[in-house]
Amino acid sequence: MSIKRLLIALSTLILFGWVFSVTYLSISNPEVEWDWDTIDTEDIHFPSTFAWGTATAAHQVEGYNDNNNWYIWENSFDENNNSRIHNGDKSGIAADHWNQYNTDIGLMKELGVNHYRFSISWSKIEPKKGKIDYNVIQHYKNLCNALIKSEITPVITLHHFTHPIWFEKLGAFEKKENIKHILEFSELIFNELHSLVPIWCTINEPSVYVSQGYFNGVFPPGKKDPALAGIVLENMLNAHIQIYNKLKSLPGGTKVEIGLVKNIFQFEPLRRWHILDWVFSFVLNDVFTNSTLQFFQTGQSIFYMPGMVKNELKNPDAIGSFDFIGLNYYSRFHVKGQLNPNEPFIFERRPKDIQTDMDYALYPEGFYSALHTISSLKVPIYVTENGLADRNDNIRPIFIKRYLYAMNLALKDRLDIRGYFYWSLMDNFEWAEGYDMKFGLYEVDFETQERQLRAGSKPFIEMVKKRGSDERGFIVNIGEQAPDFEMEYTNGKKVRLSDLKGNLVILQFTASWCSVCRQEMPHLEKDIQQKYKGENVVLIGIDRDEPLETVINFKKEMKVTYPLALDPNADIFGMFADKNSGVTRNIVIDQKGKIVFLTRLFEEKEYNNMLKIIEELISS
Ligand code: BGC
Repeated sequence: MSIKRLLIALSTLILFGWVFSVTYLSISNPEVEWDWDTIDTEDIHFPSTFAWGTATAAHQVEGYNDNNNWYIWENSFDENNNSRIHNGDKSGIAADHWNQYNTDIGLMKELGVNHYRFSISWSKIEPKKGKIDYNVIQHYKNLCNALIKSEITPVITLHHFTHPIWFEKLGAFEKKENIKHILEFSELIFNELHSLVPIWCTINEPSVYVSQGYFNGVFPPGKKDPALAGIVLENMLNAHIQIYNKLKSLPGGTKVEIGLVKNIFQFEPLRRWHILDWVFSFVLNDVFTNSTLQFFQTGQSIFYMPGMVKNELKNPDAIGSFDFIGLNYYSRFHVKGQLNPNEPFIFERRPKDIQTDMDYALYPEGFYSALHTISSLKVPIYVTENGLADRNDNIRPIFIKRYLYAMNLALKDRLDIRGYFYWSLMDNFEWAEGYDMKFGLYEVDFETQERQLRAGSKPFIEMVKKRGSDERGFIVNIGEQAPDFEMEYTNGKKVRLSDLKGNLVILQFTASWCSVCRQEMPHLEKDIQQKYKGENVVLIGIDRDEPLETVINFKKEMKVTYPLALDPNADIFGMFADKNSGVTRNIVIDQKGKIVFLTRLFEEKEYNNMLKIIEELISS
């Protein structure tokens, strides 16, 4: 075969291989984008037990952090003599949260949240190795007590990107032997504060600390050393495990929840036809997220970037080393591979995406998928951060609505999500981006320290204040007045619930496709409809969102004599229960319009209790 033919054959093979691979990859990793025009983001409820909070970090809001790794960084310059921070900003007094925390608790009350995640400043507490400033610990005790007094649960993060200069000088997480220092610090803080704080986050976002500080070089210590990045990640994860085990063994350890905070950014190919973009997005997802998750699932994994780093992580104690996992989610990145050994990939935005100021695209679908990814750890999930930088405050409302919708969908998939912390309560020092990024629900005027609620934060407040649903999906409670509404029976007759006052009313929410409803209906017919004929008892079936004809046939089939009413769009149902929860369920409403009993599914004991209550109300 001539060289020419060989080359042609080889090129054809490569071309086929390329086409086959990218087609396969595209099909097996479809791009998820929801049609937001058809989605009603308002129509959601969260469980009434759901924790709603806001989050901050000491260095970003407190001010007066002049003794840590970030202080050095803010005051140093790069090789071109430029400040490390955008605009040459320094954290300085930040939002003066150190002095203004009472004002800020007032803001939280205004929002209606019941949790607050904040970090404590190790460098303020232990300015010199072994020298503890108990006044600072007292400050955090005061903060916790003030929160508790305001019915806000304190949630502490032990390490949120910053630590004392002495720890940095020792090599921080670059050295395994330094883990003992953060362990001692964590033990001290836990002993001092455990009785006030039920939820503890050990370390915030090890992958971000590592990628920004040891890969991109934009966070301290500003290194670009993938091999070291692998070691630092390993030491941080092991530090978490040791902190977890230590705190659990201390008095009060078993009474609190302790977890790690993991950030997920998905990496996706910018050009879905380009093999390099696929390769780099896989590599990045692996080092950023999958290797960490695998480590906690199996006790071992590999931090691997071809030609750059291969670090094997092994620690059997990793398995089960948290009571919950914290998820921080913002967005995804689109990766473009290039044949440049100095810069093998870059991130590029897509013109069609809605970008926030931090240049993160709006991607609630990714939040939903990240919740599923993190759920593989099989522990309860807290969303410990989610938010956006939006100085013009025009994207914030849709961001909030869509991300909360995505989280709600994940809850409906039965993921064990316990709470959500919005990042952030107020504008703050956004690390390398300085004060330019406006993440706050409250705008802060850094000259006057005045805080002002942003109009775009309203959807968050509305959701927090919206009534939550209970574990059975009810949004109403026994003892409340039943909401009023008009319903139309299959015979065209229209009735308002308030017209029925003076009667004992039983509403059965039902549907023709619901087998439990079908089981229950003959019993309702016999035990209520027939039994209380002629008395002031009204039993009505309300059929969930089915057309008239279906409901007429359903009534005939079930041979019930009580009326069935229509409920287009399940709007009546939605006044009593989360629209996405199921039927059958009964609402018993007394003669004065008060809800006296609620049932869900057709369970003998509950059903009999309902009959008993009806009997009592009739004979009283
Ligand atoms: C960090 C925060 C930061 C936020 C927004 C998270 O990765 O934990 O400290 O402000 O992202 O960039």
